Amino acid sequence: MRYAFVGLGHRAQMYIDALLGQWSDTGEIVALCDANRTRLDYYLDLIGRDVPCFAPEKFDEMLELADAIVVATVDAAHARYVIAALDAGKDVICEKPLCTTAEDCAAIVEAAERSTGRLVVTFNYRYSPRNSTVRRLIAEGAIGDVTSVHFEWVLDTIHGADYFRRWHRDKASSGGLLVHKSTHHFDLANWWLDDTARSVYAQAALRFYGADNARARGLDERPERAQGAPGLGTDPYLLDLSADPRLKRLYLDAEHEDGYIRDQDVFGEGVTIDDNMAVLVRYARGALLTYSLNAHGPFEGYRVAFNGTGGRLELEVVERAWTPPHAAIDPTAASKEHAVGASERLVLHRHWSEPEEIAIDAGAGAHGGGDALLLDDVFRGAGDDPLARQAGHLAGVASVMIGVAAGLSATSGEPVLLDDGIRPAG
Ligand SMILES: NC(=O)c1ccc[n+]([C@@H]2O[C@H](COP(=O)([O-])OP(=O)(O)OC[C@H]3O[C@@H](n4cnc5c(N)ncnc54)[C@H](O)[C@@H]3O)[C@@H](O)[C@H]2O)c1
Repeated sequence: MRYAFVGLGHRAQMYIDALLGQWSDTGEIVALCDANRTRLDYYLDLIGRDVPCFAPEKFDEMLELADAIVVATVDAAHARYVIAALDAGKDVICEKPLCTTAEDCAAIVEAAERSTGRLVVTFNYRYSPRNSTVRRLIAEGAIGDVTSVHFEWVLDTIHGADYFRRWHRDKASSGGLLVHKSTHHFDLANWWLDDTARSVYAQAALRFYGADNARARGLDERPERAQGAPGLGTDPYLLDLSADPRLKRLYLDAEHEDGYIRDQDVFGEGVTIDDNMAVLVRYARGALLTYSLNAHGPFEGYRVAFNGTGGRLELEVVERAWTPPHAAIDPTAASKEHAVGASERLVLHRHWSEPEEIAIDAGAGAHGGGDALLLDDVFRGAGDDPLARQAGHLAGVASVMIGVAAGLSATSGEPVLLDDGIRPAG
């Protein structure tokens, strides 16, 4: 299989490393597309040989060289590449979120339906053993029919803050966290329940990051960016790009080309996304979901509880127990190097029975072995896939549309109805 890449930033590396390493027998890297030559050069050095490079406006020419395209650009640019690749009959491996608007969702569904190519959305959280175990238990009927779900996700001031430093902070680029981040969580809920949303109501607010909140809390005199700022090295919100060779090469050394500033102040002007979100969803088969996302927690993790006709299932996960008060930590390395106090607990409460703690089989490697399982499905094929972990275009669209509907609802104050889980009603 010949793989070409569009979007050669941080995330592309997982796939490039895979094709250079454990999955090298499954295909080769034949072309790269990005507007930033410095980032392209970083990847050419990694690959260790010359590979044709294309500017974004030459993407269609690149398609001729490849059988499959890996899309890892900024979120709002996914749809254009996904649709062009599908229309050329290519397979597509797309990072989450599949896209950011209802219009792009509809256009991708049409393109996928007329294409001979296959689209995979890489929802890596599905592959985390604890999340797979939840899916299996619910599918086996361990708690009967699910009647409601309570799902809370907390991002800490290492990970959550990072969305307020760069393009994610602009709703037009990321769709806001209800799309960019919650696509993972809505996809998990959809997949766990094996159902699609019918009605969505939401409230959202920017309460912590951004210039207005900083002023209200007396945090005046903030620098526009971390690089060169007086507090660099001690302020936990100022990320020092020069301290990490990879961040330096990918972003600091590359910014002269396109003005992409990776370390903007999280308390600066221009933040158009929210950091506190509350969403109510009603599913087609009747289950109710209450969901919340907070992006400035003192720890990172999530809690989800399923109520069913036969009992209740509770998963409690701490991915990082606390955030140290010193200089900002590289959020892209944080999950590996700073996962202090990580824990997980899955408990099954059946009616009339003592609670049962369920063992979770964690494998080797990142995310409890989940990343390796995902990459296996992507590059070797999903095979029988009894948990239906590999996600296609409909799953990608279904999760984006809950986020889009939630964003509309938060703005209008009205619930938003979804016809078939993927299209706005009416
Ligand atoms: N599944 C996960 O856990 C996970 C983790 C990180 C990122 N992601 C996803 O991966 C994607 C990339 O994120 P990232 O952190 O690597 O971002 P990044 O900013 O590091 O990289 C984005 C790259 O896209 C390029 N780009 C920007 N606009 C473009 C355009 N119009 N055409 C072509 N290239 C363009 C930029 O030059 C940059 O090289 C996002 O969609 C993000 O949601 C997923």
